[in-house]
Amino acid sequence: MKIASIVGARPQFIKCNPVSKELRKDHQEVLIHTGQHYNYEMSKLFFEQLGIPKPDYNLGVGSGSHGEQTGKMLIEIEKILLKEKPDLVLVYGDTNSTLAGALAAVKLHIVIGHVEAGLRSFDKKMPEEINRVLTDHCSDLLFSPTRTGVINLEREGITKGVHLTGDVMYDALLNNLKIAEKSSILDELNVKNEEFYLTTVHRPENTDNIKNLSKILQVLSRINGKVIFPVHPRTMKFIKNNNLEKMIDENVIMIKPVGYLDFIWLEKNAKKILTDSGGIQKEAYMLKVPCITLRENTEWVETVKDGWNVLAGTNEEEILNSVKNFNPGGKQKKCFGNGTGSKQIKKILDQLKI
Ligand code: UD1
Ligand code: UDP
Repeated sequence: MKIASIVGARPQFIKCNPVSKELRKDHQEVLIHTGQHYNYEMSKLFFEQLGIPKPDYNLGVGSGSHGEQTGKMLIEIEKILLKEKPDLVLVYGDTNSTLAGALAAVKLHIVIGHVEAGLRSFDKKMPEEINRVLTDHCSDLLFSPTRTGVINLEREGITKGVHLTGDVMYDALLNNLKIAEKSSILDELNVKNEEFYLTTVHRPENTDNIKNLSKILQVLSRINGKVIFPVHPRTMKFIKNNNLEKMIDENVIMIKPVGYLDFIWLEKNAKKILTDSGGIQKEAYMLKVPCITLRENTEWVETVKDGWNVLAGTNEEEILNSVKNFNPGGKQKKCFGNGTGSKQIKKILDQLKI
């Protein structure tokens, strides 16, 4: 088959990598990068480090309002799909690139596979929630990472084409953890195993809201210990534009976003992780590192139910209390499968009759 894979944002490069490797064994892949993320350390670094083939197309769409960004992608993706005539389009996750890819394909009657289908936060204010729901309803093949995802789809009347494959981010993690051991990031930052906290913040409710971001920066500064903070460009812009640097104490080490290998090595060695990222909540769970989520809700409910993740929102006392006292342990339920998601997806696609 000729498969067009559509990616555009950092987590999609990571998710696509193991799937793409599998697909290329027997199929032709056309890789389309929308250009949603474009800074070197948000995009090219991942292609270089993970050996992801150079995209066949980079649409260079860049940043913009939701309508502008999604609309530009839709226009450009449609042109490519008309030219390439793929048998199938694969989209990943829940970004604007995901939705644009799904919308372009569904109107051209191209079969769509959605990797990471069925996730819900039930919070329509999150752009990702709209992207997920619409993408799932456009898709023919829904590869769900969790049982909860399958149940969510069933509730919305989607039962055909649903496959519980486990999470391809787990495949990525297992493929790369050994390689990440060679990372020198701990030395570079002068930190040691379990002697530091790791944090990331990029959700609009935290970054575009001066009150919430100030609270987060203040609470990070109150933590007794080093906090490594690879700062998403969105967050850095907001900090700079609002002159919030003065709130940040010396214990918080702000650095540029780092590559995947360095990041998973930081995660593995962190005492605890504080984040509003979806992918990082999962990786924390997979690596058995306690996670404090700086959100009011999560689509990764298993991590909370299993006791390894706590939803603290931007409540300063709740965050500090969790930093001190949240110490999960014990066996996990293996909520994200066994790291064979990409192989399973390939197998399902192999059997497809288009
Ligand atoms: C996007 C996704 C989000 C995902 C995140 C992963 C949507 C609606 N959001 O959020 O689901 O969790 O990616 O990181 O699709 N910027 C740069 N350089 C870059 C990329 C972004 O400077 O390479 C800045 C720009 O100011 C831009 C802002 O970050 O306006 C936001 O970027 P955007 O891609 O719109 O959303 P993210 O917050 O990255
Ligand atoms: N990540 C990375 N470098 C960083 C921060 C995150 O490689 O500086 C990786 C992380 O390991 C995970 C993914 O990026 O696999 C998560 O992406 P992000 O938090 O941007 O998006 P989300 O998962 O919330 O959509």
